[in-house]
Amino acid sequence: MTSKRDNFGSRFAVIMAMAGSAVGLGNIWRFPYMVGQHGGAAFIIVYIVCCLVVSLPIFFSEAIIGKAGRADTYGAIEKLAPGSKLKNVSYLAILASFVILSFYSVVGGWSFDYLLRACFGGFNGRSLDEAKEIFTGISASPVENISCMLVFLGLTALIVVAGVEKGIGRFSKYSIPVLFLMVVLIAVESLTLPGAQKGVEYLLKPDFSKLDGPAIAAALGQSFFSLSLGVGTVLTYSSYMKEEHSVLFTGGWTAFFDTVFALVAGIAIMPAVFAAGIEPSAGPSLVFETLPVIFSKMGIVLPIIFFLAILIAALSSSISMLEVVVAWLVDQKHLSRSKATLLVFLCAALLGASCAVAPRVFSACDLLSSNVLMMIGALTFAVVVGWKMPREQVLGFVKYRTIYRLIRYAAPLMIIAIAISNLL
Ligand code: PHE
Repeated sequence: MTSKRDNFGSRFAVIMAMAGSAVGLGNIWRFPYMVGQHGGAAFIIVYIVCCLVVSLPIFFSEAIIGKAGRADTYGAIEKLAPGSKLKNVSYLAILASFVILSFYSVVGGWSFDYLLRACFGGFNGRSLDEAKEIFTGISASPVENISCMLVFLGLTALIVVAGVEKGIGRFSKYSIPVLFLMVVLIAVESLTLPGAQKGVEYLLKPDFSKLDGPAIAAALGQSFFSLSLGVGTVLTYSSYMKEEHSVLFTGGWTAFFDTVFALVAGIAIMPAVFAAGIEPSAGPSLVFETLPVIFSKMGIVLPIIFFLAILIAALSSSISMLEVVVAWLVDQKHLSRSKATLLVFLCAALLGASCAVAPRVFSACDLLSSNVLMMIGALTFAVVVGWKMPREQVLGFVKYRTIYRLIRYAAPLMIIAIAISNLL
């Protein structure tokens, strides 16, 4: 059967697009702090084990559904689990992508705003308190907040509307290697600062006594978010793979890149924070208050590189979320790519604007998507592959029985355990 479905072209483009989706704000503002708080190298080991035992098997499940189903999230599940109600759960994954896209665009907008400010030397000679004021000022200004969010969402839509190969594939192929180089450069600069040693210790010195239940749950949650699991991005991108592109190879390289990138980002950030004698933090305050001050002391170019890196990392993730919803509208509702993109752009702009002006809506969207919808999506994908698809067909993709067993038993059990522990 010949199919006209778009594809990414080369294997390199597939891996860069997947890595682009994975590498994002999660790697930059959450991972380094989490590692420092939960026992350094000890946490990194747990993180890697979680990736290997749970997250990678889920990645493979999503990728198998996409590659075997060759359709959007709903269509692929309908094809592979015919007659089951599971296809209806796929709406939650599509919804999750949409919700994450909306609040992620607000942060993407801030990075665009900060890139412009950095280009005009806006952080030169600023104190930490002044940097805090700048950030509070932006968050309190609906016009600035919403217009930057719209620019970011608009850029995302422009890449997606250009198509899978010419838009997403091409953008990822060129920007992800550059992004990596930029972060390596910042890491090298950061390591040469006096006092950088303490930051490296914070990040890497193993402390096994800090590895409690919450640390393990945090490692698993972070690896889910970081690998963009459970929301249909891996599934949708895999539906654009060519026959000869391997699910195992793609998953392995994506997880490897994502983890290495998170570690390099940590080495770019923490030594600089400690060298400046500042307490490490996570989230927006780290990226938009502490780091601009520290990096602007290291020259005018470094803040520009840093915010350009954040912008690229955020864009390469947001295009994957938008593509999930666009693919569904194109495949199931038969809209053209441009109409579908415009429709999602408009709806995401509405929810994004609410997130931009109401911090409560922002955190509700964040909590709902990462704690609830992502988990349900991941569980659904594992069940479709582990329990609905014929074993031989799955083994054709994953080759090893151990991986099949991880998909069928270990991954779903771990997700349920984490969901229960989150509720307690
Ligand atoms: N993986 C991205 C990050 O680390 C976030 C993301 C989640 C992207 C879900 C796509 C889908 O920031």
